[in-house]
This record gives sequence, structure tokens and C-alpha cells, in this order.
Amino acid sequence: MKAKYLIKQACIMLIFMCFIACNNSKIKKENIGLKNAATFPIGTAINISTLLNDAKLQKLQIENFNSITATSDMKMHAILPAENKYNWKTADTILSYAKKHKQRLFGHNLIWHSSTPKWVSEKGEKDSVWLDDFMQQYIKTYVNRYKGKVAAWDVVNEAFESSGGNYRESFWYKNLGKSYIEKAFRYAHEADPNAVLFYNDFNIERDTVKLNAVLDMVNEFKAKEVPISGIGFQMHIRMDIPDEIIAYSLKKAAATGLQIHLSEVDIIFNTHNDERLGGIQNYSVLRDEMKQAQAEKYKNLIRMYKEIVPKEQQFGVTFWDFTDRDSWIKGFFNMKDWPCIYNDSLQPKPAYYGVLDGLLQ
Ligand code: XIL
Repeated sequence: MKAKYLIKQACIMLIFMCFIACNNSKIKKENIGLKNAATFPIGTAINISTLLNDAKLQKLQIENFNSITATSDMKMHAILPAENKYNWKTADTILSYAKKHKQRLFGHNLIWHSSTPKWVSEKGEKDSVWLDDFMQQYIKTYVNRYKGKVAAWDVVNEAFESSGGNYRESFWYKNLGKSYIEKAFRYAHEADPNAVLFYNDFNIERDTVKLNAVLDMVNEFKAKEVPISGIGFQMHIRMDIPDEIIAYSLKKAAATGLQIHLSEVDIIFNTHNDERLGGIQNYSVLRDEMKQAQAEKYKNLIRMYKEIVPKEQQFGVTFWDFTDRDSWIKGFFNMKDWPCIYNDSLQPKPAYYGVLDGLLQ
């Protein structure tokens, strides 16, 4: 009877000790910070005024990240809202934050159809010679100003149609032809020969036709000695995008020998419309099993990046906003979702631990 009692007590004790140990390891892991668990830079895109006005957010940002990207403050409409009126103030604020906290500053972006200010498109449509010259002046002025300070740039963003292999019929393409892309790279390289220069796009992890078109362009650039140094996979993915296709795409892109950046990572449950606004709201509540599945998806993504992309080509992984509270998805697509690694109350989600596990494996 006594022996039975002692065994029972011992079992209770053992369970209790396991519980304490598990909790401790969770606490320890959380305190590590993602950047300390990683062998490559871990970044986040973030709005600087949100960051500077929220002490808790800032603490988490500093603990976890060693690379920073502006969500929109460094795009053309923000830098040059009117002719000859450069606005460096916000970019300078981001730079001093990056310096203060020893974070890499990533420049997003130089040329993107969606951030071209109206005054540029109105003028450029009437005069392509002016536009060609303007693009050169803009890139050189901007890149030169942050020479040695902005480590890398998305030189051209989203130059291919949302799906398939055609160049996007954007304002830039229509007025300058596809050569605007290689010119942009040459101008950026002339202004800062040490900057790492990326071509950045979305859905290339899942749309093989689009990926192949991007890779054809990259190979053409390499043959012509256009100074491209990397491919940015935005990686705005969805829970049902198969890991196998992501792995295949990373492998194919890494075979170019260029730097590979997962530049805008988030993972949604619902289906958004790629063009903007709306989508299919399959889920309006985030259930526990969904949180776990998302953690697994995040972990696999990190694992694939580590295993497939050779070490010397791992430029880093950047999360696009890192809290569900601040994520762009809600506002941009007018759709509820939970794409990030922290929740609305700035608590780490299972997804956070998924990333951490992936990094530590
Ligand atoms: C998004 C910003 O996060 C939003 O705040 C803004 O309203 C629109 O742009 N691909 C990109 C990013 O390359 O620049 C976009 O950022 C998200 C999609």
C-alpha cells in the first residue's frame, strides 16, 4: 500500500517537474529573440511612426530583429511627392533608428508602378525622354544620398503581371519599354557599387510561369552584365500553398547563384484578390488548430530557406509587419485575417515559436 502511495507521489512530482521544465524552455526561447536564433539577418517591415509611438512594439522590434524595411515611407510617392520637393525627413528618421539599434536598413523600393506619384505619371506619359532622364536622376540622387547606409535595395518591384509570364503593362513599361528595368539597376549600381540590388516580386513561389519569366530576365541580365545581385520573394503566402512548390521555386531561384531574400513574409488563411480589395473570407475566427497549423507552416518556410538556399546566398528573411494588429492585409484587402507572428495584443502566437523552432533546428 505504502509502495503504491510512494510511486503515485513520485509520478505527480515527475509530471510537475516536466511542466516546470517545459515552461522554462518556452520562456528561455522567447527571450532569445529571433535574430539571436538565426544565422542570417531577420528583418521586419514597419511603419516608423507606429514604431516610435509604441514602447512595447519597439521593445519587441529591438529584441527580435536586426534588419528594418519601411512599409511605405521610402517609396517614390513619399520621397518625391511633388516635382523637385524631395522629402528625406522620414527616411532619415528610419536611418537613425536603424543606426541606433544596429539594424541593417533595407531600401524598399526605387521603382514600383503602385507608388509612382501622379505628377510623375502625368508628365511621363507626355514625354518619355523626360521620363528616362527623370528615372536616372531620381535613382542616382536617392541611392547616392544613402550610399553606404542603405545596405540593399529593391530596385524594381513587381515588373511582371500578377500571374503568368508577361511583363506588367505598367506606366513605366508602356512609356520606356522593358529596358527601364535594366537601366534602373545600372543607375543604382553607379550610385552605390556596394549596395546589394534586388528584383522583388510576389507569387513567384507558387506561379511557375511567372517564376520562369523572372529567371529568364535574371539570366538575360547576367549575360549582359546588368548589376543584379538578388531575387526577392515577397512570400505573401496562404496556408494552402503547398510547401513542395515553394521548395521547388526556392531551389530554382537559388540555382542562379544570386542572393535570395524572403522579403515580405506573412501567411494568411483567407484568399485575397491580388489586385486589391476583397477576397474570399472563408475564416472569420482564428481557432486553436489554425494557430498550430500556421506555426507549422512558418516553421517549414524557415526550414526550407535554411536547407535549400546555400548559406552564402541567404540574404535574410523579412516579415511584413510582425503583428496582426498592424498587418497591411486588413486595410489593403478589406478582409479579416491573422497573417503575423504576434497577435493583436502584441503577444507571440504559436507562429512565433514556429519561426523560432525553424531557426533553431
Ligand atoms: C504595402 C504597405 O504595407 C501598405 O501599407 C500600403 O498601403 C501598400 O503597400 N507588396 C509590396 C509592398 O511590395 O510595398 C506592399 O506594401 C505590400 C505588397
